Amino acid sequence: MTRARSVAPQRILFAASEIFPLAKTGGLADVCASLPAALAGLGAEVQLVMPGYEQALDLADRPHVTATLDNVLGFENVRIITARTPDTALPINLIDIPELYRNGGIYQNADGSDRDDNAVRFGVFGQAAAQIAAGRGGSTWHPNIVHCNDWQTGLVPLMLRELCGPEMPATVFTAHNMMFQGLFPWEGRTALRLPTNDGIEAGLGLHGQLSFLKAGLYFSDSLTTVSPTYAREIQTPDYGYGLEGLVRARGGHLTGILNGIDSVFWDPSGNTRLAARYSAQDLSGKRYCKNALQRELGLVEDENAPLIIFVGRLTWQKMADILRDCLPAILAREPDRQFALLGQGERGLEDGFRSIAAAFPGRVSVQIGYCEDRAHRIHAGGDILLHGSQFEPCGLTQLYAMRFGTIPIVRPVGGLADTVVHASEQALVDGTATGVWFEEPSAEAMISAVDHAIWLYRQPLTWRRLQRVAMGVDSSWDRSARQYLALYSRLRAHRLGAAAGQDADIDAVRESA
Ligand code: ADP
Ligand code: GLC
Repeated sequence: MTRARSVAPQRILFAASEIFPLAKTGGLADVCASLPAALAGLGAEVQLVMPGYEQALDLADRPHVTATLDNVLGFENVRIITARTPDTALPINLIDIPELYRNGGIYQNADGSDRDDNAVRFGVFGQAAAQIAAGRGGSTWHPNIVHCNDWQTGLVPLMLRELCGPEMPATVFTAHNMMFQGLFPWEGRTALRLPTNDGIEAGLGLHGQLSFLKAGLYFSDSLTTVSPTYAREIQTPDYGYGLEGLVRARGGHLTGILNGIDSVFWDPSGNTRLAARYSAQDLSGKRYCKNALQRELGLVEDENAPLIIFVGRLTWQKMADILRDCLPAILAREPDRQFALLGQGERGLEDGFRSIAAAFPGRVSVQIGYCEDRAHRIHAGGDILLHGSQFEPCGLTQLYAMRFGTIPIVRPVGGLADTVVHASEQALVDGTATGVWFEEPSAEAMISAVDHAIWLYRQPLTWRRLQRVAMGVDSSWDRSARQYLALYSRLRAHRLGAAAGQDADIDAVRESA
């Protein structure tokens, strides 16, 4: 006879430095908003923790002080402001230390340089998150999982261990980008009161510096990254940025789980930001969106002109340098080609794109800056997304473009390889194609890929089919969120097994599956 056994729900504290719409510089914010919401939708209890930036305190719903932490690395009486996220109504704990979080950019100064107090800002944030997870401040809600994201939260697993010892909640660390390593002078660890024995220091040092990213990868119980292909890539020198050996050594604890998207927010059929709404069944509204976009951006209003778009950070990672160098050649190949860019990043690249816009009036629009609503309008009005990447852990922009019937051109790296099916002859016949790939990270390869995409674009039936297949791809969180829940269950089962023997282990896994 089997005995029913009740398993406590998953209680997940989700720690991140940016959560949309409270704070955002890139895809991290989107994932840290939509994944917790999906987990909550599947029955998990989720709380968020983020620094109390000025804008976050303004936008958060019903903020009120729920606790104070006596001492967070020397900061006394630190207020925890609890609120609800604006769209998803999840509980969020904002760490209120005005001198660290209330002024300036999230990571950078106005001139684009990194803030020089980031080690302290995010070290203190990590310590505050660990104290909340450890029940300091009197909370009666005790997480059984602490899910950390990127280097800004990399110290949390170690700090939690120091606070709780073996009774600590299980920790998951997700690497969204291995290039951002949270590197700071080695001496900085003293101010962060990190333990100094050799065993611990081996998990903190990288190239003679202190690395928050390495700490996350080293001290967490489980590692994940945001696509299966990137999980393989980061075990190699080309993508591991010096941490490939550690990642390989911890390979048994590493899982690649593909990002999902908020498919209600990114939905052309119910989107109030657009000039018209449309769906895979009826694409006619996309024509209005294209026309409205051409008008808004000062482009020639030609419905047949292929409109190529770029939305993203202007950096080497996104191949923005190669794009700047070959854009004039791409445009020169046919007189009706158009290009619209929305982005910001390296100053030299911003200037380079501005000059191209000046040289191609009516054909090129360059918007330097950050605008969420315009990103929606560009995804809706464009025909082709040009998304070259040197590496791409997952990439959300191509998923948004596909959902809006805009066909992505990508390099098959990381999550781009996992989410875009190349329009080979066979894939076109099979009806599985959703985009165009180019292999080499070169201008020539990018130019040929654009030629190929435009050749397809000029065959309306083939193009409609590509659009419908791309729009039909299910990129919602459901499947991936279940993978995270299964991972949390395995970790909890492991803890229970260690404490109470194998039976509990096996039961918990089965019951939560
Ligand atoms: P990454 O996180 O590497 O920058 P992703 O594709 O995962 O790349 O996510 C980028 C996110 O940032 C998307 O939501 C994209 O729409 C948004 N984004 C990037 N640049 C801009 C911008 N200039 N204006 C509006 N949204 C932007
Ligand atoms: C990073 C990666 C991007 C990924 C995003 C969210 O910023 O560069 O590929 O989609 O994180 O996981």
